[in-house]
Amino acid sequence: MEEKLQRIKAIELQNRMVTAEEAASWIKDGMTLGLSGFTRAGDAKAIPYALVRRAETEQFKVDVLSGASLGSGVDKLLAEAGIVNKRAPFQAEPAMRKKINEGEMLFVDHHLSQTAEWIRAGVIGPIDFAVIEALSITEDGMIIPTTSVGNSSVFVEHAKNVIIEINLSQPQLFEGIHDIYEPGMQGQRSPIPLTKVDDRIGTIGIPVDPEKVRGIVFTAQEDSPSTILQPDAESKVMAEHLLDFLRKEVASGRLSNRLAPLQSGIGSVANAVLHGLIDSEFDNLEVYSEVLQDAVFDLIDAGKVKFASASSITLSEEKMKKVFGDFGTYRDKLILRPQEITNHPGLIRRLGLISINTALEFDIYGNVNSTHVSGTKMMNGIGGSGDFARNARLSIFVTKSTAKGGSISSVVPFVSHVDHTEHDVDIVVTEQGYADLRGLAPRERVPLIIERCVHPTYREQMRSYYEEALLRGGQTPHVLEKAFSWHNHLAANGTMHLSE
Ligand code: COA
Repeated sequence: MEEKLQRIKAIELQNRMVTAEEAASWIKDGMTLGLSGFTRAGDAKAIPYALVRRAETEQFKVDVLSGASLGSGVDKLLAEAGIVNKRAPFQAEPAMRKKINEGEMLFVDHHLSQTAEWIRAGVIGPIDFAVIEALSITEDGMIIPTTSVGNSSVFVEHAKNVIIEINLSQPQLFEGIHDIYEPGMQGQRSPIPLTKVDDRIGTIGIPVDPEKVRGIVFTAQEDSPSTILQPDAESKVMAEHLLDFLRKEVASGRLSNRLAPLQSGIGSVANAVLHGLIDSEFDNLEVYSEVLQDAVFDLIDAGKVKFASASSITLSEEKMKKVFGDFGTYRDKLILRPQEITNHPGLIRRLGLISINTALEFDIYGNVNSTHVSGTKMMNGIGGSGDFARNARLSIFVTKSTAKGGSISSVVPFVSHVDHTEHDVDIVVTEQGYADLRGLAPRERVPLIIERCVHPTYREQMRSYYEEALLRGGQTPHVLEKAFSWHNHLAANGTMHLSE
């Protein structure tokens, strides 16, 4: 009890302790929840688990908002229990993906910087309960978040009620690394005073109206580790291509060896590509990203990255043990911010980020599909990739040139779904090479992409598509009736090789 009371320093809130079951019982059918959690870090855990237990004997559904994907089994269990009506703005969970694609659950796939604006403007919500994981509550009543900030501050400000989950297993040294900034209503804002990656512009915790705090529960459940795979041979080759490109930028005088603040997306490929910087000549690097995966900590350990700003820390099991066990070494090199600040279009443009995200597929003109397998089945969501791609100094997309053992070409005549248009994509990289699309007209892009990025087993097929397209003419030549022929062939024959 003593330890619990020490975590609630605001004396007026010390009498709000309840069990997770009791707090979950306040949540009714049809309500909207704002859960803390961003890329499997800092998720609300106790209340979602209690809701899942309740669903064994009671039928209800809720709408669930979060920062991004929820780990610790939360998205999985919520989906399997069938208690989610609508989910936004991101998920990355196979069980939830299945429900979404079967039409049993609604999913609003939304730019991660913009969900806060919808909440402020009342487009979504009202939020009945914000459920926020915390390290502690300060004497002046601020919630100190844990391993992510995400949308937690906007949830707390706009929710009718707040439930705080104090997690005793999260590293206490996290207190002080958060920087909570509230930009205010659109149309009434001052410029956000952030001009450097390590600028602190807000408070170390989330201010909360004590009247709204309905309950405080305690948990000791750890974040679940990330599911990223270690860099493989193809990812390492992609990293080499990216380094070659960056060296050319340095040689041209557009960048120095310090490069520019780096953003790297979720997933194994983006992590592997960032990892490739370790043995490079690039130094004194800064990271301004939405999630910090293993590679950023390897780069800090190697003395390559001097500061990293993000909205969450999502690590593999091994890395989590090392970093959280020795957090004192890292804490003065890190800031965690709300996702609308990490992903803010104006700040991304102001800081001039180099942005590296992963595509499922891209086409011969540089349009990118990050979300929909064969144009219809949701993978994870757009996440922050659109926030960064549209506004970065360099918008880079990486993907292996083939998927599923070569039966799918990740470079296609026409993407089957567009997340990032050709206007927002500067460089595309596969293990075959990279194509710098900047300043190129559509007809200049195609030969470069075919020769540099397409897998050799698909090159001839792509050349013949483009030759036929050229006969039709146009600024962006296509054979529309064949534009999705590769996807159709895959659906019918299990391969994009048209001769098989
Ligand atoms: N068609 C069908 N499936 C494809 C594919 C394609 N063109 N390209 C890749 N895949 C499959 C892979 O086979 C793999 O499947 P598996 O899970 O069954 O093995 C899966 O997609 C993941 O691909 P992988 O190559 O392992 O990449 P990843 O883990 O780096 O994830 C994305 C890639 C695109 C799914 C992921 O980066 C994502 O969701 N991006 C969108 C959100 C985003 O960019 N956020 C960035 C800001 S943080």
